[in-house]
Amino acid sequence: MEKINAIITGVGGYVPEYVLNNEELSRMVDTTDEWIMTRIGVKERRILTEEGLGTSYMARKAAKQLLQKTGVDPQSIDVVIVTTTTPDYHFPSTASIVIGKLGLENAYAYDFSAACCGFLYALDVACNMIQSGRHKRIIVIGADKMSSMVDYTDRATCPIFGDGAGAVLVEGTTEDNIGLIDSHLRTDGKGLPFLHMKAGGSVCPPSHFTVDHRLHYIYQEGRTVFRYAVTAMSQDCSIIAERNNLTKDNIAYVIPHQANLRIIEAVSKRLELPMEKVLVNIQHYGNTSAACMPLVLWEFEKQLKKGDNLVFTAFGAGFVHGASLYRWAYDGAQAAAPLK
Ligand code: UT7
Repeated sequence: MEKINAIITGVGGYVPEYVLNNEELSRMVDTTDEWIMTRIGVKERRILTEEGLGTSYMARKAAKQLLQKTGVDPQSIDVVIVTTTTPDYHFPSTASIVIGKLGLENAYAYDFSAACCGFLYALDVACNMIQSGRHKRIIVIGADKMSSMVDYTDRATCPIFGDGAGAVLVEGTTEDNIGLIDSHLRTDGKGLPFLHMKAGGSVCPPSHFTVDHRLHYIYQEGRTVFRYAVTAMSQDCSIIAERNNLTKDNIAYVIPHQANLRIIEAVSKRLELPMEKVLVNIQHYGNTSAACMPLVLWEFEKQLKKGDNLVFTAFGAGFVHGASLYRWAYDGAQAAAPLK
């Protein structure tokens, strides 16, 4: 059998209308635009404010745009993977809700949990599924409504996060040397004390106590997470670079998880790669967790060219981390403009 390579053939995205900027945030907690810009690099973030709408709403919007842009028959989709830390419900899966609303009748769907590495890991899984020859078309959606678990009285976490969703279509090709080329993915399991939500899961189910003690929000020891993130992402990228003879000349772009501009700059410095080669949109969306990387692809799709070497890298709760070499498979300028 001819070798099948897995490629991304389209990108869709969605961010909610509401813009929460630093000025408004500084009226909610004791902070300033200057502190947030110098320490994190986020100017504004999108928030899904409509009552009764959750992650599946944004995921569905992103997938719908993806289907429109690519023009593929929705009934030809085999699998939908939604990667999220903020599912609509504990069960059923957010992916099952998305698939139902989109009316995809020939697909199965499931959720995938890997915090901020969700998209990086899920893309790897989807590519393997395509390479196996058993699946032809998979939609991978990274979507998170981070505002649903942000404590808007905690100035150390609330400026960081935003809401959004990005979706990619993954298909097979017999063309050589294209698509996902290599991945180095790791989970070290040391991260629990530093980044988690204390209650709401099976260890500490919701109760009056957990609500009264504000245990349903993101808890983060920022400095520790920062240090681990810089070290892990730099090492993961170096491993991928070394294994694939990548240099600053043949890497087109690094697409990092968008957690903190200082983390991104530190990684770029360690890799000796100029910031022009690092794609960043943290300033207007913040950290949308699993949605960060597909939203970068969505925003910068137009400037991506066939054959571009992209290095994806991410880090998140767990700790999960890794890097992948992905060789872009189409000229983005020819893809339909995103329909907002
Ligand atoms: O995506 C998942 C992975 N997550 C990450 O990668 C996040 C990693 N961590 C970070 O991005 C940063 O550590 C933070 C943005 C969370 C915090 O930045 P920092 O530079 O590490 O600040 P810090 O926690 O060391 O705090 C420095 C000071 C403290 O005051 P004192 O103790 O020095 O008096 C904080 O109370 O800054 C204070 N501070 C603030 N001041 C104004 C913390 N938040 C704010 C704020 N406005 N919003």
